[in-house]
Amino acid sequence: MASAISPNLENQQFTPEIDYEEIQFFNSQALGEGSFGVVFQAVWRNKLVAVKNITRENEKQAFIVEVRQLSRVNHPNIVTLYGACTKGPKMCLVMEYAEGGSLFNVLHYSPRLKYYMNHALSWLYQCALGVEYLHNMKPKPLLHRDLKPPNLLLVDKGKHLKICDFGTAADQKTEMTNNKGSAAWMAPEVFASKKYNEKCDVFSWSIILWEVLTRSRPYNSPGATSLGILWSVHQGKRPPLIKDCPPCIESLMVRCWHQLPENRPSMSEVVIIMNDICSILP
Ligand code: ADE
Repeated sequence: MASAISPNLENQQFTPEIDYEEIQFFNSQALGEGSFGVVFQAVWRNKLVAVKNITRENEKQAFIVEVRQLSRVNHPNIVTLYGACTKGPKMCLVMEYAEGGSLFNVLHYSPRLKYYMNHALSWLYQCALGVEYLHNMKPKPLLHRDLKPPNLLLVDKGKHLKICDFGTAADQKTEMTNNKGSAAWMAPEVFASKKYNEKCDVFSWSIILWEVLTRSRPYNSPGATSLGILWSVHQGKRPPLIKDCPPCIESLMVRCWHQLPENRPSMSEVVIIMNDICSILP
């Protein structure tokens, strides 16, 4: 890390400036793709890290957003940002490496994973805790706006969950332009570009809840397109109710995906209810 802590791109936030030369890439296979950039495993200062590289000029804005927002947060359920190379020519973000990979891979590509059922409710609770923290940030709430299993990472043998990818996060309503691949989790009011608030993350959380409990992909019929999904969600369509779902979970899920944001609970209420559910259910 360069000795001087550079003022980060804007305002009062500070992100440690990292020297690109100090990062050693040794695995050419990408860990994943975010709302922008491609993430690789690397070593920095004797530590395994994940490095998100900007690959195109037009990704700079999302990069700046992610550095700015991630540098404001500090929570056990949010991925830690170690620093960033902001001076170019190579711009990247250096963050904590999550050895368990994404929840998406665990849900849909690891059918025999033993720890799955033990952790399912805990993952949902931890995700809610991370989002609650964002929504309670001062002076303004931070909306993640792209909550979905590919953006939830697992560490400690799948026990702990951390939210990542803040490339579309915002502390105010701004146009959502970068939402490729996120239609299934997007609240109808975001798609309709009406006024929206923290409740858009509550909606996304309810779809994640459905996905974790069913281990299926939402709206996964053959030929489904992002636009088709957005339109049908806007028209009121939701994933089917889950057979034999405990009523306390079903009622929470249905409240969270209510068409009207004002009828959805706040994330703090979700946390309280999930805490109760986790203590009742095995
Ligand atoms: N994929 C995206 N971000 C990651 C991270 N921080 N660790 C592991 N895999 C990732």
